[in-house]
Amino acid sequence: MCGVVGAIAARNIVPLLIDGLRRLEYRGYDSAGIAVLTEQGIERVRRVGRVAEMQAAAEAVELAAGLGIGHTRWATHGGVTEPNAHPHISRDQIAVVHNGIIENHEAQRERLLALGYEFTSQTDTEVIAHLIHYYYQSTADLFEATRLAVRELSGAYAICVMALDRPEELACARMGCPLLIGLGEGENFIASDVSAVLSATRRVMFLEEGDVARVSRQTVQVIDGQDQPCERPVLLSDVSLASLELGPYSHFMQKEIHEQPKALSDTLEQILEQGFTPDLFGEQAASRFNEVTGLLILACGTSYYAGLTAKYWIEGIAGLPCHVEIASEYRYRDAWADPNYLVVTLSQSGETLDTAEALKRAKELGHKTTLSICNVMGSAIPRASDLVFYTRAGAEIGVASTKAFTTQLLALFTLAVTLAKQRQRLDEATETSYLDALRHLPGSVQHALNLEPQITLWAEQFAKRHHALFLGRGVHYPIALEGALKLKEITYIHAEAYPAGELKHGPLALVDEDMPVVVIAPNDSLLEKVKSNMQEVRARGGELFVFADLDSHFHDSEGVHVIRTPRHVGVLSPVVHAIPVQLLAYHAALARGTDVDKPRNLAKSVTVE
Ligand code: AGP
Repeated sequence: MCGVVGAIAARNIVPLLIDGLRRLEYRGYDSAGIAVLTEQGIERVRRVGRVAEMQAAAEAVELAAGLGIGHTRWATHGGVTEPNAHPHISRDQIAVVHNGIIENHEAQRERLLALGYEFTSQTDTEVIAHLIHYYYQSTADLFEATRLAVRELSGAYAICVMALDRPEELACARMGCPLLIGLGEGENFIASDVSAVLSATRRVMFLEEGDVARVSRQTVQVIDGQDQPCERPVLLSDVSLASLELGPYSHFMQKEIHEQPKALSDTLEQILEQGFTPDLFGEQAASRFNEVTGLLILACGTSYYAGLTAKYWIEGIAGLPCHVEIASEYRYRDAWADPNYLVVTLSQSGETLDTAEALKRAKELGHKTTLSICNVMGSAIPRASDLVFYTRAGAEIGVASTKAFTTQLLALFTLAVTLAKQRQRLDEATETSYLDALRHLPGSVQHALNLEPQITLWAEQFAKRHHALFLGRGVHYPIALEGALKLKEITYIHAEAYPAGELKHGPLALVDEDMPVVVIAPNDSLLEKVKSNMQEVRARGGELFVFADLDSHFHDSEGVHVIRTPRHVGVLSPVVHAIPVQLLAYHAALARGTDVDKPRNLAKSVTVE
């Protein structure tokens, strides 16, 4: 998933393109490039590596212009090389930047080779540049040539296009991947997400599936997927520029871990104001929830683990069956469908293509109601859903999701209790105790953050290891999964998680004195079971790192290290236990010197399948 930008203005747009790419770098950081229109023609600067390296090269040649496009890459087709970096140019006349994957690029490449086009890269994207050039020859209209070309592409794309002899306009189009237009005063911008245009404007227009747009300094003309002229709503973004800055922190992940008490309070605000009411999820929620006979949760990665945690609450508190599916698997399966099962998609970015396509699939299979729990206002998945609950975690830039995860858990717990109340399964005392639990949550999380110094010591030990196991039981098993994922993502240590009871059915074979075993051991009804699973590990010489509750009477002993999480409100224990595993991963990554915010091979929002 790459980041694309475009700009047309009276002023020099090179600094704006570069600032935009810097803010989109979390989407892909293999290489970066810009192309602008000057008297010399289309001038391009590309570099393998970070935007900063490309910026230095652009400044070295004092690049300046009023029109241009830019790109930061996450390689899919073709290695991380300069020839494969975007923008791609066709016959010095058409330049293109692209986010997405063109599935019929081989067939188009054969066709264009037969038409005499020469390819200088291994990318799928270069096909788009030549195809637009091909139609530009007959139409002499950049917008029309772009429309004709994209109608012949299959796959996902967000593209921005410029032409040598079109200093007054840019063209852009999207299918599957996000793209918006930032509307300025006498200048306009194109970008993959709002963070890239905020330094110039807050007025944004999200393009829909199949849209193609002509963008000049004064005007924006959009046609939809049926080639019909259309107006897209202009929204005012509420993302603050400050939230996109590191501030006093060393890494965005560290900042976002420490922002969790505030993120939870901000997300709680609407819940404590309104109580457990369906209105939290949308105007029609009350009537639609009445028909709900079960839930189908669709998500990927960390969001999927939030869904797995919610299964325990939805079945336990609301008494409704809950299926939790990995979106990329559900997408291609002949899944069973009950139209009255509420489809809940979980996505921090709201742009994850696997989840967006799984949602489409669920609708095709007849599911009547869809609810999106998302952290990005106006993103694609909420726009495609009947009901929406926005978490208020603020912009999450670190690739490893943290505050979005805990606010997702908060939203899902609230959904479970709201459904229970609507089904008369909630007595007043329990409702009050749940509201009380929510009120205390930000404080409990702050207490968990205060464990950082102890966790840092553990992390230094973990940094030397090559493997790790995480164990949890019941609603804490998904937290063990999340702990293992965090460690994998940013330290590159091979980590796996298991329900503690599953250990003796195989994974116990992995345990020896070199295998650190992290155990999530809250003081709940499964504590004694967890203790016996820990005995199994000790019996094989495994070293235990136990996150236990204050009152669960665990003590450090040979091969057993214990950190006690503060008293907290039982039912929301998974949220509190997420904090120590986030901190463990963060500090282990620091000790290993990996790139915490931009780990290798990953990107923040996955807009390709
Ligand atoms: C989590 O740390 C990862 N960045 C990744 O697993 C992520 O959760 C997944 O790609 C889903 O993203 P989403 O929530 O934006 O849809």
